[in-house]
Amino acid sequence: MDDFISLEHIVKVYPPNVLAVDNVSVGFRKGEIHSIIGENGAGKSTLMKILYGLVPFDSGTVRLNGNAVHFKKPADAIAMGIGMVHQEIELISQYKVWQNVVLGAEPIRGSAGKLDVKQAIELVRAKVDEFQFNIDPEAIVDRISVAARQKVEILKLLYRNVSVLILDEPTSVLAPQEIPQLFSELKRLRDKGTTILFISHRLDEVLELSDRITVMRKGKKIATVAAAETSKAELAQMMVGRQVIFTSKRAPHESGSKMFETKNLNLVRRDGLKLLDDISFSVHAGEIVGIAGVEGNGQFELVNCIMGLTEPSGGHIEVGNKEITRLTILERRKLISFVPQDRAKMGASIPASILDNAIMTHHRLNPDFSKWRGLVLNYRTARTFVESLAERFSVQMASYQNPFRSLSGGNQQKAILGRELLLPTPFFLMDQPTRGLDVGSIEYVHDQILSMRQENRAILVISADLEELFLIADRILVMHRGRIVADLVTDQTSIEEVGRYMLEGKLTA
Ligand SMILES: Nc1ncnc2c1ncn2[C@@H]1O[C@H](COP(=O)(O)OP(=O)(O)OP(=O)(O)O)[C@@H](O)[C@H]1O
Ligand SMILES: [Mg+2]
Repeated sequence: MDDFISLEHIVKVYPPNVLAVDNVSVGFRKGEIHSIIGENGAGKSTLMKILYGLVPFDSGTVRLNGNAVHFKKPADAIAMGIGMVHQEIELISQYKVWQNVVLGAEPIRGSAGKLDVKQAIELVRAKVDEFQFNIDPEAIVDRISVAARQKVEILKLLYRNVSVLILDEPTSVLAPQEIPQLFSELKRLRDKGTTILFISHRLDEVLELSDRITVMRKGKKIATVAAAETSKAELAQMMVGRQVIFTSKRAPHESGSKMFETKNLNLVRRDGLKLLDDISFSVHAGEIVGIAGVEGNGQFELVNCIMGLTEPSGGHIEVGNKEITRLTILERRKLISFVPQDRAKMGASIPASILDNAIMTHHRLNPDFSKWRGLVLNYRTARTFVESLAERFSVQMASYQNPFRSLSGGNQQKAILGRELLLPTPFFLMDQPTRGLDVGSIEYVHDQILSMRQENRAILVISADLEELFLIADRILVMHRGRIVADLVTDQTSIEEVGRYMLEGKLTA
């Protein structure tokens, strides 16, 4: 079969010396779902951004239908029918769905060039119907789910009649039960002739969805294989160059005394809505407690209350018998290691160097990091620290003096996780700790979390990934509409049971 798009000998070096894409040649066919997989930093996003005209490249050729093309900006790619949805959703939240979709390409009416509202809504509705997207064009984006917002992003591109759709980790923000619908919509698009290029770390999903899969490692293309002719183990092996074990290594472990507790925690919004409704639970030393739930059921508010970013309306929070409900954020950080969900906003300073980010909090808690009575940073200690952190958590970087933003998404997450795991705190709070990580790194992070449990630290993990919770958590709590509706022992429950609590807040026959 002829390739609709071919990338030939593409090379990309990020200055000064990061070889992100190393002589990659790959072809994509019309009407196929083609996944791109690979470790964090393998060059997946960069390769797709090159195709989309977002990142300039150093050498090689991009062909569309056999003809060489030169996209200088995304608008050039869109004009030729190639669109990309990034991991971060970029909609205007106060606008309605249809307004977001037509923005920049509005139908106009009359010679005055006024927006034809009626036609705009009709055009959007026609696209929604054509692709059987379950979405209301008149809904305000602010009020719809993350999954729906992602569909609006896709709709924006379909409205512009793209025939190639690039999706960079679209499922990492979705709840498990939102994924099948996205997949059936993507398959329908493919059957209508759209080429879908799909980046994901979730190998089960990749196998289920794709026709073909291209594996990248350290900037190089390793292979392109037919999904029907490969397996998860083979893909993982090609990605990371070694075998990956997909089963839990959670050994039986006695838990100790209570290390963390919330008592009757409440958070009431101004209009009376209970965002947190009487939350009481505890985590013991040497125990991993998981919180499952569809995103938006109070997990975010719970994390913010624990970390002191939001003041609860009532109730108490304790770490190791010490009440922390009124402590400042910095005082809490001495007791709590924290991996936030949104690493770019809360976990790091993106323009600061990798070194500065790695030592954050450590330099306040550990006197070895300063000299002259705390007046200046002990650069040698800091440098040794960042080097060993990068080594232990395999953070790939050209130099620790580079800005944090130069790290790939997964490497940013590994750096933050490493920094937090190395803090000498009794309690760990992790919100989506492995989101965006490759299989090898996930396995590594899980091992690290389990060894923290072995060291008798108390760990609370919030995750939208049920498989993750079943691998590492001793107990699973389910949040639904601001309440904890189930407290289950992992070994005595099932993914189906937890899933039903997540959706309905209770068990129904
Ligand atoms: N703007 C940039 N400046 C410098 N280096 C960069 C930049 N963007 C990416 N890199 C580097 O290029 C390499 C490839 O990054 P890329 O984002 O393409 O990886 P990826 O495969 O998408 O990884 P992930 O799974 O973590 O998203 C990485 O080493 C990364 O640190
Ligand atoms: Mg990426």
